[in-house]
Amino acid sequence: MGLDFVTSDSITFCDIGCGSGAIGISFAIELLAKSINFEGYLSDLSESALEVAKKNSDILLNPIHQNCFTNKIQNSQLKIINSDLFKNYPSKKKFNIIFANLPYIPSDRVPVLANSVKNYEPISALDGGKDGLRIISKLLVESKQRLELNGVVILEVDDSHTDTSKFENEWIIEVRKDQNQNTRFWILKLKNE
Ligand SMILES: C[S@@+](CC[C@H](N)C(=O)[O-])C[C@H]1O[C@@H](n2cnc3c(N)ncnc32)[C@H](O)[C@@H]1O
Repeated sequence: MGLDFVTSDSITFCDIGCGSGAIGISFAIELLAKSINFEGYLSDLSESALEVAKKNSDILLNPIHQNCFTNKIQNSQLKIINSDLFKNYPSKKKFNIIFANLPYIPSDRVPVLANSVKNYEPISALDGGKDGLRIISKLLVESKQRLELNGVVILEVDDSHTDTSKFENEWIIEVRKDQNQNTRFWILKLKNE
């Protein structure tokens, strides 16, 4: 991922529905390597997912493993909290980047998912409701109060989520594809900032 939208030497970000912490921890490591200070939050409503995220962050952000940024890590913080979307976040906290890979599979596709997916994830991590956008829609409502000026929301979405019109009244949305040319990501900025 390019960091072209990062203009300051300090950044706030969160990873909502962090699971094992893959997105937030990788991003933190990238920021440390670029000497960009950060305040990051990883959150999920699954306590067992948060335990894994905590272990991963202890290992991967441990200065012994990341000896190149021993000093830098002291100026940065990664907080891991249990929260349904932004419910337990500090009430006035805002972010430059909100990452989320929340459940987005349309409900009728969940039973026919490949075993390599459904045997390794609880249904609560996959089922995004009728159109797959139930939790994402709630997140976007809450995100309006949580973005810093020029902030972005970066979402992983289902490959069926090619139509963004439902959200275009309030958001400017760039749709990105993966290496197989399937729609996989939305990058959103608030209109009228
Ligand atoms: C598909 S998994 C993705 C995990 C991780 N973000 C990743 O990319 O590997 C979705 C995660 O969202 C969490 N989740 C579901 N609903 C949530 C909600 N309302 N608030 C916070 N987390 C939620 C699930 O517990 C699960 O860990």
